[in-house]
Amino acid sequence: MLTITNLSAGYGKAVVINQLNLEVKEGEMMSIIGPNGAGKTTLLRCINGLVPANSGDITFEGKSIKKLPTHKIARLGITHCPEGRRPFPEMSVYENLKMGGLQLNNDQFNERLEYVYSLFPILKERKSQYAGTMSGGQQQMVAIGRALMTSPKLLILDEPSIGLAPIVVDEIFEQIKIIKESGVTILLVEQNVDVALKVTDKIAVMDNGQISFIGNPAELVKDASLREIYLGIG
Ligand SMILES: Nc1ncnc2c1ncn2[C@@H]1O[C@H](COP(=O)(O)OP(=O)(O)O)[C@@H](O)[C@H]1O
Ligand SMILES: [Mg+2]
Repeated sequence: MLTITNLSAGYGKAVVINQLNLEVKEGEMMSIIGPNGAGKTTLLRCINGLVPANSGDITFEGKSIKKLPTHKIARLGITHCPEGRRPFPEMSVYENLKMGGLQLNNDQFNERLEYVYSLFPILKERKSQYAGTMSGGQQQMVAIGRALMTSPKLLILDEPSIGLAPIVVDEIFEQIKIIKESGVTILLVEQNVDVALKVTDKIAVMDNGQISFIGNPAELVKDASLREIYLGIG
C-alpha cells in the first residue's frame, strides 16, 4: 500500500533520512521504533509532504505521492496524527471532531461521529466539554478521534503514548488495536516498545535515518541485542 524506496531527506544540508526503504502492506500495522533523533518524525513528515524528499520515491496504492502537497496526500486517504498533537483547547470535543470531518456530508458525518464515539465513549459523555480542560489521555483520544473522522485508509500516529500514564497508554492502545482490526492500515512511531509489540504486526527499527531491522514482534524479541536495547532484558 505504502512503498518507500531509497528515500533521502533532511533539513538544509543535514541528511536525516538516508536511502531508506520500507513497505507497509494494506491492513497491516507497522511500528517504527528507534532512538531519539533517528529521523522517525522526519520520515512521517516526508510521507505527508511536509518535508521534501531529496531523492528516492514514496508511492501510495501504486502512485507516487512524493511531489504532492499535503492536502492532496490527505485526500488520498493518508491521515497524520502528529507528535504531541493536542486538540483545539477552546473548542468542545464535538467541535474538534467536526473539524476533522469538514468534507463529509451530514449522513457520513453522523456515521463517523458514532464510530468515534463507540471507540471512545468518554468523548460522547464529554462532547460539550472544552478539549483543553480534559486529561492528557482524553486529549489524545480527541486527536485520534479527529484523525478518524476522515475515514483514513492509512492512519499515521507519531508517539501517541508520549507523556501519558501507563494505564492510559494501555487504554489508547486497546483502541488502536480495534482500529487496526477494523481494517485500517496503521503506521505508528512509538518509544514505548512494550506496548507497541503487543498490537503491531511488524516492527521496524530505525537508526541514523535507515531501517536497521524489520520483522514481527517475535523476531525482535529473539534478537539478543535488540531485546537488550529496546526491552531492557538480556
Ligand atoms: N525542523 C527541523 N529543522 C532542522 N533539523 C531538524 C528539524 N526537525 C528535526 N531535526 C533534526 O533531525 C533529526 C531527526 O529528528 P526527528 O525526525 O525528530 O527524530 P525522531 O523522531 O526519531 O526523534 C534530529 O537530529 C533533529 O535535530
Ligand atoms: Mg519524533
